[in-house]
Amino acid sequence: MEFQFILVEPNYAANIALISLNRPKELNALNLQLMLELKQALAELDGQDEVRCIVITGNEQAFAAGADIKQMESKNPIDLLKIDQFETWDQIRKTKKPIIAAVSGFCLGGGCELAMTCDMIIASETAKFGQPEIKIGIMPGAGGTQRLTRAVGKALAMEMVLTGKFISGEEAQKAGLVNKVVPVEVYLDEAVKLAKEIAQLSPIAVRLAKESVLKAFDSGLQEGLFFERKNFYMCFASEDQKEGMSAFVEKRKPDFKGK
Ligand code: HXC
Repeated sequence: MEFQFILVEPNYAANIALISLNRPKELNALNLQLMLELKQALAELDGQDEVRCIVITGNEQAFAAGADIKQMESKNPIDLLKIDQFETWDQIRKTKKPIIAAVSGFCLGGGCELAMTCDMIIASETAKFGQPEIKIGIMPGAGGTQRLTRAVGKALAMEMVLTGKFISGEEAQKAGLVNKVVPVEVYLDEAVKLAKEIAQLSPIAVRLAKESVLKAFDSGLQEGLFFERKNFYMCFASEDQKEGMSAFVEKRKPDFKGK
């Protein structure tokens, strides 16, 4: 898969794939083309049985410093409506395989929203998370007000969204936005390690479990519980469930086939 603004490196032996945002001079600002490429790469990887978990990263300096301000500057609401960029974001959100964001440096605006669209975040000690849109006269538009609030609670979300202040990787972890904070030298290795761990598990159970956790985000409790139950029953239709449970009883390592 060849793209202009992202690099895609599948590691089929480990059942994972790495996507690197690649506009280093612009601190990986998310222009429309980059987002389209990301959507296309994720759709492709989502369809490959050999890939069971995906890592998205930037570079040490920046995961992404937001949507491309230069591209948005002259737009009016009708232009934005016609461009319909959130269709791309919605498709990215629908990726069935788990996605881990490996974040170092600036993770701002649309960059923070992209990280939050992923399923887990591994951050370096140098990561800076923020929704600074308010400082350029706008507000978050790709889920920032919703996902950040659900992740860190109202008090901190309000402060970040209304003042644009950045928080460190450590603060982000304390607030529940980030899974783990590690030294900058190893943040990508840690994310890859986590991806490999998930890639060894039943892809069917992982897919249904991801779908169910996400349901907690976009539904009320009763609806979410019902959804979870349905997917729980569905796991029992897989060979992986039989394999996983017999391996436990037989005290051996399971061999999940994704069937
Ligand atoms: C376009 C950007 C950019 C962005 C940085 N650059 N962020 N270009 N869009 N979001 C470019 C700069 O113009 C500059 O290019 C180069 O990257 C390096 O940036 P500097 O500002 O020179 O670096 P530094 O002084 O280290 O400051 C880093 C920074 C700052 C604090 C991250 O760049 C910054 O505040 N960026 C904007 C952050 C932001 O407001 N994000 C939210 C965007 S709105 P040149 O060519 O000038 O050297 C958004 C809405 C999402 O995300 C809505 C849904 C899609």
